[in-house]
Amino acid sequence: MQEQIKNIKTLEDLQALYVATFGKNGTMTARLKEMKNLDNDARAELNKENSTLRELFKVRQSELEQQALMAGLQKQKLDVSLNPEPENTGTLHPITHALADISSILESFGYELWTGPEVEDDWHNFTALNTPMHHPARDMQDTFFLPNGNVMRTQTSAIQIRSMEKKGAPIKMFGIGATYRKEMDATHGPMFHQIEGLYIDKDVTMTDLIGDVQEFLKRFFEMDNVELRIRPSYFPFTEPSIEVDMKWRGDKWLELMGAGMVHPDVLRNCGINPEEYQGFAFGFGWDRLAMLKYGLNDLRKLYDGDIRWLKNAGF
Ligand code: PHE
Repeated sequence: MQEQIKNIKTLEDLQALYVATFGKNGTMTARLKEMKNLDNDARAELNKENSTLRELFKVRQSELEQQALMAGLQKQKLDVSLNPEPENTGTLHPITHALADISSILESFGYELWTGPEVEDDWHNFTALNTPMHHPARDMQDTFFLPNGNVMRTQTSAIQIRSMEKKGAPIKMFGIGATYRKEMDATHGPMFHQIEGLYIDKDVTMTDLIGDVQEFLKRFFEMDNVELRIRPSYFPFTEPSIEVDMKWRGDKWLELMGAGMVHPDVLRNCGINPEEYQGFAFGFGWDRLAMLKYGLNDLRKLYDGDIRWLKNAGF
């Protein structure tokens, strides 16, 4: 019996043997009931056997419990050699990427970064830009008007006005920000981003404009050479005005930006003497530049915040 207890392997088997020994119909129970028929020595012998067995059961039980505990811990052990779950790390949005590139290029040319409010007053968005109240050019931009007469900024050109009013001439700045127009299709959304460049000094010419634009595009698109096409255009705040197209992938001309020599009236509106200072301005859609660079084709998707789409597009 004693050997049997020591060799039991599970708590269940030990329990069964315990019941078979000390239970209601257990062997020891039966023997204890017959104790009265024994002589003193035999009684003492049985008592001793009884308590030895009980002690053995207790010892074996605690041994088996300890083993079970250790086995459980073994199973729960952390396997530090396992590969961790893949983590989703955040990345920069393509628009932010493009802005970082654009800014560092323009800053290397000596342009200084300016921003302005997205809710603009009529003066900065239109009137100071030589586009007074009943000017037909206001129709070029489908404007969101606010009840108090302010507008959602339709163009970052408002920022060049603010910068000239504040700093005067000479000035070399670029303005960035969201702009708003009532438009909606695959290449236009009601909100898009523009970049505006402005360089006013004593002898700034159209050649400087084309040189900076060409060098900028070369660096932004990482191309050895860019072929430009300059077309005459119209903006109320530049004279002459041009549109700059770029040869894309060998065959297509892409319209990229509007530009021109800043109109003398605009300089005057900002307290700058056009007899002394002149210069150029250019403006372009920064989303469009980002889409071209990264090969994206739906402007609206850019703002859906759909991480699967962004991941698919390589971000
Ligand atoms: N503001 C013009 C537009 O939104 C772009 C432009 C900027 C043109 C500066 C000329 C000079 O279309």
